[in-house]
Amino acid sequence: MKFRIFRSAEDQTGAGAADPTESVRMGGQVLPEATSSKAASAVEARLEDATPVSGPTVVATPPTGPIKIAARDVSVFYDGKQALYDVSLDIPDKTVTALIGPSGCGKSTFLRTMNRMNDTIAGCKVTGRIAMDDEDINDRSIDPVLLRARVGMVFQRPNPFPKSIYENVAYGPKIHGLVSAKSEMDGVVESALKRAGLWEEVADRLQSSAMGLSGGQQQRLVIARAIAVNPEVILMDEPCSALDPIATARIEELIDELRERFCIVIVTHSMAQAARVSQRTAFFHMGRLVETGDTEDIFQNPRERRTLDYITGRFG
Ligand SMILES: Nc1ncnc2c1ncn2[C@@H]1O[C@H](COP(=O)(O)OP(=O)(O)O)[C@@H](O)[C@H]1O
Ligand SMILES: [Mg+2]
Repeated sequence: MKFRIFRSAEDQTGAGAADPTESVRMGGQVLPEATSSKAASAVEARLEDATPVSGPTVVATPPTGPIKIAARDVSVFYDGKQALYDVSLDIPDKTVTALIGPSGCGKSTFLRTMNRMNDTIAGCKVTGRIAMDDEDINDRSIDPVLLRARVGMVFQRPNPFPKSIYENVAYGPKIHGLVSAKSEMDGVVESALKRAGLWEEVADRLQSSAMGLSGGQQQRLVIARAIAVNPEVILMDEPCSALDPIATARIEELIDELRERFCIVIVTHSMAQAARVSQRTAFFHMGRLVETGDTEDIFQNPRERRTLDYITGRFG
């Protein structure tokens, strides 16, 4: 085990002592306390002898509850060039885990290792072990197509098929042979659209083209499409970055509802969003997982100087 774990009561002091009502406005968004200068300097004082740049991942708080995905020493190479270094991370079930860090630090690369999307990139090699429910997802016995139904993915730009709303949602259950009767399919489509919070808006136009929906509706449709095949995990790569603030709020609400049933991992470049939607946060920097823990802890009481520098906007 190469994790450095902080659990003692002493470790909970420091920035926690700062005024908890204090918050800072950045880009019009309210950020949590550690971003206030007072809290930041309290943390900073404690970080004088922070671990060196390539030190082991700091686990600020270990996850509680069952672990859905366990990554161990995962490295990724593109044409022999290393992009991700020995990432070990436990991702709990029925929880939203946010992956944060500056552009190019490896968030999308790591996300793609969890449903083997990197297999589809020529010249990409993944080493290490990723287990879902203790089963190695890179084992020869695992069919990547079936794996991607169990581990659904939502991208930055909504990508509905140029088909009807109904067909978009029915597609997965159809190709995976989950449903045979038409009436049964109607039920699956309705239930997925309801769970994605889109039913009310599209119930009377299921046969219309999905391309006619707004961006936010398309993103909820894509989420309905992922849900329709009963996934266990939903991966989201900056799902709101192409959306306006109202559509973003709607997706964030939806993510919060979905967490009751699914394990969710979301990449976001918005720290305010990470603070709003996630319970766990993992901070990446230059291909390494620097620090992970409960979201509150990462934002209010980071153990690593690089985490503090990033969440306080000193780089990124
Ligand atoms: N398909 C690819 N081919 C080659 N290099 C890639 C590819 N995807 C990502 N990379 C490289 O891997 C590193 C991590 O990228 P990425 O995972 O996209 O970062 P992030 O999502 O944090 O912005 C970057 O240096 C990027 O240039
Ligand atoms: Mg990315």
